[in-house]
Amino acid sequence: MRRDLSLVIRAMRAADLSEVIAIEQSVYEFPWPRRAFEHCVRSGYHCVLVCEDAQPEEAICGYAVMDVQLRQAHICNVSVGKAWQGQGVGQFLMRALMGHARMRGAARAYLEVRPSNHAARAFYDQLGFRQVGLKRDYYRAQVGVEDAYVYQRTVGL
Ligand SMILES: CC(C)(COP(=O)(O)OP(=O)(O)OC[C@H]1O[C@@H](n2cnc3c(N)ncnc32)[C@H](O)[C@@H]1OP(=O)(O)O)[C@@H](O)C(=O)NCCC(=O)NCCS
Repeated sequence: MRRDLSLVIRAMRAADLSEVIAIEQSVYEFPWPRRAFEHCVRSGYHCVLVCEDAQPEEAICGYAVMDVQLRQAHICNVSVGKAWQGQGVGQFLMRALMGHARMRGAARAYLEVRPSNHAARAFYDQLGFRQVGLKRDYYRAQVGVEDAYVYQRTVGL
């Protein structure tokens, strides 16, 4: 991670959603709508922000949404704002997610990723995720639909 970054994790609140959605719309071609985030925050998903603890104001660098049930952690969304990418922020966020999943008793974590999202696949690869499945026609695409690769890793110690 960039040495001068001072990152903190905190809960995502309803008041953060405008900023979260601005990042979501800037990093995805098919962003989640506001109501998806509202649903996750309301329904007790693990919704967190990674922020730079800068003075006088924190800056939101990225966020994640995870659902932990029956010893499985489903990572539903992991995003880092464009200006913050490539500096270890995503890795910091994923470590925090794994720590939370472990605390909640999850044995495995899984997620879906577009085959065409080479950057995210490289990111998950280096975190020890491996492809364990395929969901056909899972995502919208510019033309038609795109499959999802299902990636998984043990939550570990
Ligand atoms: C994928 C994403 C979360 C990674 O976050 P990040 O903060 O940029 O990643 P990090 O700086 O922590 O990278 C950690 C490692 O992942 C790999 N990695 C990250 N981005 C990469 C890229 N564009 N190409 C290749 N490898 C990459 C590298 O191994 C990197 O380590 P290194 O910098 O020592 O080489 C971020 O780029 C992002 O939000 N992308 C847009 C949204 C998205 O696609 N989310 C995932 C949906 S499934």
